[in-house]
Amino acid sequence: MPSTVIVGMQWGDEGKAKVLDFLAEDADLIVRYQGGANAGHTVVIGDDRFAFHLVPSGILRTGKVCVIGNGVVLDPEEIIGEIDELATRGVGVKGRLLISNRAHIVMPYHKAVEKAQEEGAGVGKIGTTLRGIGPAYVDKYRRTGVRAMDLLDESILRAKVAEGVKWTIPFVDGDNPALDLEKTVSDYMGYGERLGEFLVDSATFLNAGYAAGKALLFEGAQGTLLDVDFGTYPYVTSSSSSACGVCAGTGISPRHIDRVVGVVKAYTTRVGAGPFPTELLDETGERLRDVGGEFGTTTGRPRRCGWLDAVGLKFAAMLNGVDAIAITKLDVLTGIPVIRIAVAYRIAGKETREFPVGVAALEAAEPVYEEMPGWEEEIGDRTRLEDLPDNARRYVDRIADICGSETALVSVGRNRRETIVAGGECN
Ligand code: GDP
Ligand code: IMO
Ligand code: MG
Repeated sequence: MPSTVIVGMQWGDEGKAKVLDFLAEDADLIVRYQGGANAGHTVVIGDDRFAFHLVPSGILRTGKVCVIGNGVVLDPEEIIGEIDELATRGVGVKGRLLISNRAHIVMPYHKAVEKAQEEGAGVGKIGTTLRGIGPAYVDKYRRTGVRAMDLLDESILRAKVAEGVKWTIPFVDGDNPALDLEKTVSDYMGYGERLGEFLVDSATFLNAGYAAGKALLFEGAQGTLLDVDFGTYPYVTSSSSSACGVCAGTGISPRHIDRVVGVVKAYTTRVGAGPFPTELLDETGERLRDVGGEFGTTTGRPRRCGWLDAVGLKFAAMLNGVDAIAITKLDVLTGIPVIRIAVAYRIAGKETREFPVGVAALEAAEPVYEEMPGWEEEIGDRTRLEDLPDNARRYVDRIADICGSETALVSVGRNRRETIVAGGECN
C-alpha cells in the first residue's frame, strides 16, 4: 500500500472514517489533506465509539503516525480538546500526531463572520457547520491568514490578528468578543505553547516517508460533490475535497499517488442546503434516516436522505479516478422491497446522464430510476461476499459497474468487524 487516497464519492458522511480505520491496519502514515473541524468522522470498535473532527481516524491503530497536512484549516481549541479526550480514553498521541506548520488556523473572527453571514443570508444560506471553515480559507487566499507556525511568534500573530479583526468589523456587532485583539493573541499564544511539539514541515516529512517505502493513507473529509471546484457550487465546502486536493494539501507529488479508493454509501445523504435530486421526503427517507442513524456527527442535524444517484457517482468516479470502491451501510437497505437508483436526470423534458454544472439545472432535475429487488435478511454478520443474499450482491455489483471499478470492501455495520473484504485491491 504505497500511497492510497480514501475519498467520499457523494456529499459527505459516506463512512470514510470506518473504511479508513479498517485500511489503516496496513498503513504507516495517515494524512488529512483538507477541510477542518467541519468533518465528523466516526469509528466504532467493539463497544467504543470515537468521533473525530481533526485528528485523523487512523490514530486508533497502535503505532501509526497521523499527520494534519498543510491543506487543513486547524481549530486549535478543537484539536486540543480531541487530544485530551483521546488521552482520557487511553489513546496517546505523543510522537504519533504531527501538524503541518503551514496549516492555516481558524480564528474566532472567522466563526463570527460565518455566523453573521449565515444568519443574514435568507435564500442564499448554505447551511454550513459554523466552524469558521469558509472564512479561514478566504483569509488564506487573501494572504493574511495565520499559519500554525505563527502561533509561536507573538509579533507576527498580533499583526495578523489585528488585520483579521479589522477585516471583520463591518460584519459583526462592535461588542462581539471575536474582535478582542488582546484576548485572541493571548489565547492563541497559549494554544501555540500547547501545540508547538506537534508542528513540523509535514511536506518534507511525508516525502521522506514515501521515499523510505512507508505506506501512506490520505483521509478525505467531506465528499466529492462538496468540492469547491467540482461540487454543487455554491452549496459546497471551501476546500478541494476530491482526490484532486491531495497534492496541494500535503506536498506529495501527483506522481506519488498510487491508488484511489472511493467510499460510496449504499444510498445518498446530504446535510445543509443545496440540490439533491434523489432526496426522499417520504417515509422511505425517514426510514433511511432512522435505521442509518443519519444525524450529523458535527452538528447533530438530521441528514437529508435519498436513493443512490448514479449520475453523481459516475461524475465522482471520473474526477477521482477511482481504482476501487468501498460500499458502506449496505445493511441499512435490508427490508426495503424495491431499491431505486437514479441512472439519468430529466431536465426540461430532456434526459441526460451528465452531472450538470449549474445548481439551477440540478434543482430542476427529475431522477430517472432503475429498480432492483431488495432483500429481507439481516447481513451484519456476513463476512464474505458470497454469503450476502443474491439481491444484495447484485446491488453491490451494480454500484461497482456504475463506478467502473472493482469493489474492495463492503461495510455491513458500523463496527470495525462488520466489514467484508471483497477481493478488489485497496493497496
Ligand atoms: P464520514 O464522515 O464519511 O467518516 O462518516 P460519518 O462518520 O459522519 O457517518 C457515517 C455513520 O455511519 C457513522 O455513524 C458510522 O458509525 C456509521 N457507519 C459506517 N459504516 C456503516 C455501515 O456499514 N453500516 C451502518 N449501519 N453504519 C455505518
Ligand atoms: P464529513 O468529513 C457532510 C457541508 C455542510 C454545508 C457545506 C458547507 O464528515 O463527511 P462548511 O462548514 O464546510 O463551510 O459547510 O458542507 N459539510 C458536510 N456535510 N459531511 C461533512 O464532513 C461536511 N462538512 C461540511 O453541511 O452544507
Ligand atoms: Mg461525517
